[in-house]
Amino acid sequence: MTKNSVVILPGDGIGPEVMGEVAKIIHFLNQNGETDIAIIDDCIGGAAIDKHSVPLADSTLAQCRKADCVLLGAVGGPKWDKVDYNIRPEAGLLKLRKELELFANLRPAIVFDALVGASTLKEEIVRGLDILIVRELTGGVYFGEPRGITDLGNGQRRGVNTQVYTTSEIHRVGRVAFELARKRGKKVTSCEKANVMESGKLWREDITALHAADYADVTLDHMYADNCAMQLLRNPRQFDVIVTDNLFGDILSDEAAMLTGSLGMLPSASLGARDAHGKQPALYEPVHGSAPDIAGQGKANPLAAILSFAMALRYSFDRGDLADALEAAVQSVLNAGTRTADIAEKTSKTVTTAQMGDAVITAFEGALKRKAA
Ligand code: IPM
Ligand code: MG
Repeated sequence: MTKNSVVILPGDGIGPEVMGEVAKIIHFLNQNGETDIAIIDDCIGGAAIDKHSVPLADSTLAQCRKADCVLLGAVGGPKWDKVDYNIRPEAGLLKLRKELELFANLRPAIVFDALVGASTLKEEIVRGLDILIVRELTGGVYFGEPRGITDLGNGQRRGVNTQVYTTSEIHRVGRVAFELARKRGKKVTSCEKANVMESGKLWREDITALHAADYADVTLDHMYADNCAMQLLRNPRQFDVIVTDNLFGDILSDEAAMLTGSLGMLPSASLGARDAHGKQPALYEPVHGSAPDIAGQGKANPLAAILSFAMALRYSFDRGDLADALEAAVQSVLNAGTRTADIAEKTSKTVTTAQMGDAVITAFEGALKRKAA
């Protein structure tokens, strides 16, 4: 078996805690001969500012380019509130996404049966929910020029950001969404604000053209992003795959996450284009942030990070079998009533971050034995 490698960037806040549980699972798989994955530990965000004075060191970026994929915890926290805006913790994550050209961000929102009561929405609205948000990740207002704050000299200042998309940027993320929809419910909802923004009008026209040319077998709907935000609460199960830009995707995915009961449950994969050798740059990270208020207390939910690693097994290591087993292990742990505080219910047993990781490993071991038998 060829040796694989991952770079783990725990980052800040609860990042190190949740990534510690992911590392345990990798060791477990290695020990059982299922994988041979070397872990390279490095830093990003505030941790990197403390060590290198920048939120993403060049040496770290070089490691990330070489490895099969990157597993990231979370970045940011009040400790770095006062650092220069250009080197804030978040800038490290944005640079990593941009440098690796991870243009397609996959954020699945799945409601596990055991957690249907943890959602703030009524059971009958969210039961069985399984949607996938495909967020454009390297363009739009996050990176558009011009940007900045200028002093107008009269006691006024002016802040500018630019929303910009080209046809090729829209088409490449659109293709990812249509391809994934083909393997699921065969329906794509494309979201923008074509009623207000030229970039949204272009988005709608380009997605429409791509659909007509290559994906007529998939159902395509268009929706204004504000309406989508509303529909996600009104009737989320109408959606299969949602494709949208960087900023709307950021917002809609937080909203979708809460449908599932907790931000602590949502994984994500960020993928780039495959090169001539078949290598695809990839970054896996939980959608939740660094949650500095609960950091270091063993309260964090590691399931989003663990489910992100399951996505890595699927997309970067072509081990869909292990991904299925790991997801099944998470499900069985939840079914058994084992919960971190964020998803606790009256009758459940509240455990620490590490206990949750251990419970998943025990269930995973069982799932693998059943697979072997
Ligand atoms: C996310 C986060 C990031 C984003 C922040 C931390 C820069 O909110 O991944 O959704 O805005 O993309
Ligand atoms: Mg976000």
